[in-house]
Amino acid sequence: MNTDTADESWLARLPKAELHLHIEGTLEPELMFELAQRNGVKLPFADVEAVRAAYQFDDLQSFLDLYYQGMNVLRTSADFHDLALAYFRRAHADGVVHIDVMFDPQGHLKRGITLQTLMDGLLQAMADAQAESGLSTALILSFLRDLPAEDAMAVLEAAAPWYNRIAAVGLDSAERGHPPGKFAAVYARAKSLGLARTAHAGEEGPPAYISEALDALDVCRIDHGVRCIEDTAVVARLRDAQIPLTVCPLSNVALRVVDKLANHQLPAMLAAGLNVTLNSDDPAYFGGGMLANFNACATAFGWNRETFRMLATNSVQAAFMPEGRRSALISDIARH
Ligand code: ADE
Ligand code: ZN
Repeated sequence: MNTDTADESWLARLPKAELHLHIEGTLEPELMFELAQRNGVKLPFADVEAVRAAYQFDDLQSFLDLYYQGMNVLRTSADFHDLALAYFRRAHADGVVHIDVMFDPQGHLKRGITLQTLMDGLLQAMADAQAESGLSTALILSFLRDLPAEDAMAVLEAAAPWYNRIAAVGLDSAERGHPPGKFAAVYARAKSLGLARTAHAGEEGPPAYISEALDALDVCRIDHGVRCIEDTAVVARLRDAQIPLTVCPLSNVALRVVDKLANHQLPAMLAAGLNVTLNSDDPAYFGGGMLANFNACATAFGWNRETFRMLATNSVQAAFMPEGRRSALISDIARH
């Protein structure tokens, strides 16, 4: 078995699944300007450089303010299509073979954009990417946790025409002060509809939110989860149940969940036997996509190929994809 240190071109060719990706967080400044012009939207930035210069965050909320502002240029199905297909192409170049794509309907509905507009654009981009490169994708309809649970329930009901095109529901936006239990009824309804469930927990919020997401929402994965390491009982539970954690290293540095990558919880999480995956979260805002995250970890932690094979295998094992594709990809990773 090859235990060489992983290098950039080997990492680029390693088949990997991305499980934690907000499609609205893939909006690069260049496309932001193009769509603003297309739709006659005035941006509060002079140029692309000014947008990039604004990407200095103190915490999750300071990012979310910009993230919701950026969404404002997305108006038509073509806009959502172009946004998603552009990211799918970049991800494919990074060696990504599958993406579980989170999207935030409430960020668009409140601006008068219909679910039909949003879904038409995303579904067309997914079909185009599949035809172009074989990239498979699944959708995670995510609720904004800082809005009332009743709003989330209304979105879930409004999504009825697309239940067969949605793999799971998710929970994102400002974590602190919005514990998972607030959405217990919404998640129970999603479960009754046959939808899988994930939730952000333990990014900025305390480890107790991770346990609460498992207990009150019956999630099959935890998004982020890095603060689990502060509570040995939570770590033991996550390890024993092998709950997949969708960790986003560059995001955690950008949003100051950790001060620098060298101090990230990842090595301790691997040492504890947790089921870790690597992801980009909002690649346009946090310094790069999947390959940038893999490369940054290779540099910071010196992981060997065996470790990266394990991380890639974890991602495919936990992805929302057909079983035949899953077993074929796991074989591809083992041979890489
Ligand atoms: N929405 C987009 N990115 C997010 C993140 N990292 N945490 C919470 N909500 C988000
Ligand atoms: Zn996220």
